[in-house]
This record gives sequence, C-alpha cells and structure tokens, in this order.
Amino acid sequence: MTEVIASPCATHTDSCRGTVALDIAEHACRVLQNIPVNAEYRHMIVAAPIGAALAQPGQFFHLACPPGAAGTSFLRRPMSVYGADPLRHTVEFLYKVQGIGTQGLATLRPGDTLDALGPLGRGFELPEKTRHVLLLARGVGLATLAPLAAHAIARGACVSSVLSARSQAVVMSAERLRVAGATVHIVTDEDGSSDPARVEAQLEALHAEAPFDFLSTCGSNRLLMLLQKLGKSWGVAGQTAIEQHMGCGIGSCYACVRPFRAHADSDRLTFRRVCWEGPVFDLQETTSW
Ligand code: FES
Repeated sequence: MTEVIASPCATHTDSCRGTVALDIAEHACRVLQNIPVNAEYRHMIVAAPIGAALAQPGQFFHLACPPGAAGTSFLRRPMSVYGADPLRHTVEFLYKVQGIGTQGLATLRPGDTLDALGPLGRGFELPEKTRHVLLLARGVGLATLAPLAAHAIARGACVSSVLSARSQAVVMSAERLRVAGATVHIVTDEDGSSDPARVEAQLEALHAEAPFDFLSTCGSNRLLMLLQKLGKSWGVAGQTAIEQHMGCGIGSCYACVRPFRAHADSDRLTFRRVCWEGPVFDLQETTSW
C-alpha cells in the first residue's frame, strides 16, 4: 500500500474549512469485496491505510476508475464514504453503476488495486448534545447518510431514518441502519408513500412523538426542499450532502462551484466549491437544483 501526500490548495487549509485535519493522500487500496446489492448498485470494501480509514461521515474519495466495457474514464469519480473502520483499516463504497467510470469500478475483483485520493471535503458536524437525528435519504444519498447514523448513535443520539426508493426491490441499507440502532421507515414510489405530502405528514408525526434536533438529507431535490420547509417550521438546524460532478476534487479547478445562500434567510447568493467547502452544507443555505 503506497501513500503520496497531495497538496490540496495553496490558499485553503483544513482549519479554514472548520473540519478535522486529515492528510489528503493518494492511497493504493486492495479490493476485498465488490459485489452487487441489487440490479443497479454495488458494495465495495477496500483495505486502506489509517489515514483513509479515519474518513468522517460525509467526506468522499476521488477514485481513479479502471477501464470498463464502455471505455476509459480519464477523470476521477467522487465517491462518498459508505463506511470507514480505522480498527479494521477498511473503507466502503456503495455506488450506482451508470457511466463509464462506475462501469470500470464494477470490474474490480478482490485482490485488485483501487487508487483512492482522500479523504476529501468537509463532513457532517453534529452539534454537541444532539439527541435525535433525522436521516432523510433517497437512492445513492443513502450511501452518504448511512455512516452518519453510526456516528450519531456512537455519540449517544437516537437516529430515525426515512428511506425513499422507487420500489422495495431497490431499498438499500435498511438492515445496516437497524443493526446500527436506527429506526427505519421505508417509503416507495410503487405504493405512493414517497409522495412529498405523505412524507411530510410522516415526518410531522415523528417530530411530534420525539422532536428532532438535527436534520440531514441527501439524494433528492424534493426531499431537500421539504426538509428546508420543516426545518424552518420546527426551528431545527441541519445539513445536506450535495452530489456534484467534479474535476480535481481538491479545491483547485472550480469545476464544482454552485450557488448557496449567504446565510439561512438571505436572498444573496454566494458561490462555493462543493469539493472543498462541502460536500456537506448547511440545510438552509443550500439552493435547490
Ligand atoms: Fe476542482 Fe472542486 S472539483 S475545485
């Protein structure tokens, strides 16, 4: 396993991002597992050095994808951390096979090497004494939020998760979340329970029963807007993880810039790099797409 320390950005440091300082490095990780979990998604586990296995929930790695049947991807692919275990020295990814890069990732077999640059970005920051966390996720957003559940529970918080999917057949991570100690609610398009109005009523009921004091979401613009509305109504803060195409992944190329509200209630927009100031942002500062 080799490590090459990379230079993230001449003008930005970990302290200016307000996150835990970890070395950004290019890791040659040995693939331990890379198996399908349903018709669309695969679960990969790699052996990783401690610097990678200390990745925090919400951070990501920039992966060099091997050639696949459809060709070679010359750009790395950002991939959020599905799990990171510093005791076992492993990092996990849950990814949807949908383009040249991820088709290449799907070809990796146990024993192959994955080139992973990271851990990158700013992860979730749970406030002190958080007691009840809501995870609201759809599709691949689950991969990003799942490690937050384990992190929050380890800090003594309760976690309620609402998982949205097209159908029961493509619901992922429910058992993983239950094992971690989270309460799991599944809503789907096939039975209509994922309709935003029904999800809103469900969240209102959950909040009435045991008030949330931290909200998180990833994977759906509609769910983001719903949670922003509820967060304002309840007076509860939160964060969202953004998915974005990237170039360098380390703050240098500005390919990942998006508009954000300057402050929660501001109409003034600012522009931030998702890879560097994010990919986790304040719930109310995030603009919909
Ligand atoms: Fe280059 Fe974000 S991907 S600055």
